[in-house]
Amino acid sequence: MNAEQRRIQCWDVDAGYAAAQERARCRFSGTQLVLQGRGYQEVGKFRCLSWLPGLLDGESSLAPPQIPNLRNVFWRAFTVLKPRLREYFQSEFAPVFCSMLKMGPMAGELDESYCWHVDSGPSCHLKLIIFLNDDHDGATAVISRQDSRKFIDAGYLQHRRMFHLDAFAEEHGISYTPYKIQPKAGSGLIFEPASVFHKGVYPTFGERRVFQMGIIPWDKPWENFYEEHWAKGYQNTNGFPRYDLGDSGGA
Ligand SMILES: [Fe+2]
Repeated sequence: MNAEQRRIQCWDVDAGYAAAQERARCRFSGTQLVLQGRGYQEVGKFRCLSWLPGLLDGESSLAPPQIPNLRNVFWRAFTVLKPRLREYFQSEFAPVFCSMLKMGPMAGELDESYCWHVDSGPSCHLKLIIFLNDDHDGATAVISRQDSRKFIDAGYLQHRRMFHLDAFAEEHGISYTPYKIQPKAGSGLIFEPASVFHKGVYPTFGERRVFQMGIIPWDKPWENFYEEHWAKGYQNTNGFPRYDLGDSGGA
């Protein structure tokens, strides 16, 4: 352990300052700090996206070139979220990847994204899921950043993803409160996917349809990023290119 790691272990972890800061943030009301406090927040309403759900008729997923009016989807989302995102990142921001997904009742093999996990990627990024329909009983479940930390510290990430957490939690003496978000069409969830445990919940009837995107801090407004990359054929459904995209139009 180097000097900085020792300082963090001593004060932030052992002396409880990091947890105290989290608690203080959670209770700091009157601002948009819910996201900063818990690591996730329900958001919405995203209006006039009615052309989106039908695109998934006959498709299980769609990548950016197959999503028409992508700039308009970004515009709808960021019209709602811009102040919150700028406050969160303390900077401008940009949509680095996006896709659309559909999932019906579980059939055959278990999809990994329907087990509890955190995503790979840089520590500082957000994922936005826009729920496109609600004629199903599927959901998205999350665990606060603080509770998620307990699982990470207990070594969860060294195991295969689990469908249920109770046995692992009991074995390691972890208390936690999963939060299940039952979508309303046009509403959304924004969260820190690299530090907040999450999973999709299979519907027992109907089909769960979502639009999702990754958002990173950026040094110019998202419109510039769009013009410089997406509009030039940048196609990224789920990953993180090198930060210095340059003028090449992407990775
Ligand atoms: Fe994920």
